[in-house]
Amino acid sequence: MSLAKIIAHGIRTKIREALGIEDPARKIPAPVAERRDYTADELRQYDGTDPSKPILLAARGRIFDVTRARSFYGPGGPYGVFAGKDCSRALALLSTKEEDCVGDLTGLSDAELEKLDDWIDTFSAKYDEIGKLV
Ligand code: HEM
Repeated sequence: MSLAKIIAHGIRTKIREALGIEDPARKIPAPVAERRDYTADELRQYDGTDPSKPILLAARGRIFDVTRARSFYGPGGPYGVFAGKDCSRALALLSTKEEDCVGDLTGLSDAELEKLDDWIDTFSAKYDEIGKLV
């Protein structure tokens, strides 16, 4: 690209930003998750590593489409470890350890289970629930 073109592009971008106009060429449609039940193996395909696929996570077997929070749950994000899994135990324990990203709730206290339910309330309010882990 010539310098003149780069400058012209920069000016157009600044004008668009100032006017709040989106550049349609830069808008990649976010993938939308299919509403259905998923097996654990299927869920694992939606861990954010393929940008053309939605990002899903599950808690208490309820699957949420968290694609719009790619910065949290995508690869390299702080909570990327939860993507493509039932992360109930990790949510209850406030853990981001890989080994806690399981649906098993054995031995958890009432307070920990309450924490998990608080997270599920957060997810329900913010994301589409698209199915169940089967
Ligand atoms: C020093 C520790 C931590 C700090 C400072 C921190 C801070 C934050 C912040 C600032 C957000 C973004 C809120 C927003 O913009 O909506 C967030 C989101 C989140 N945090 Fe943490 N966090 C910490 C530890 C943890 C741990 C250990 C967990 C494990 C369960 C966790 C789970 C989450 C989740 C799941 C979200 C995203 C919720 C959503 O999808 O809206 N955080 N955290």
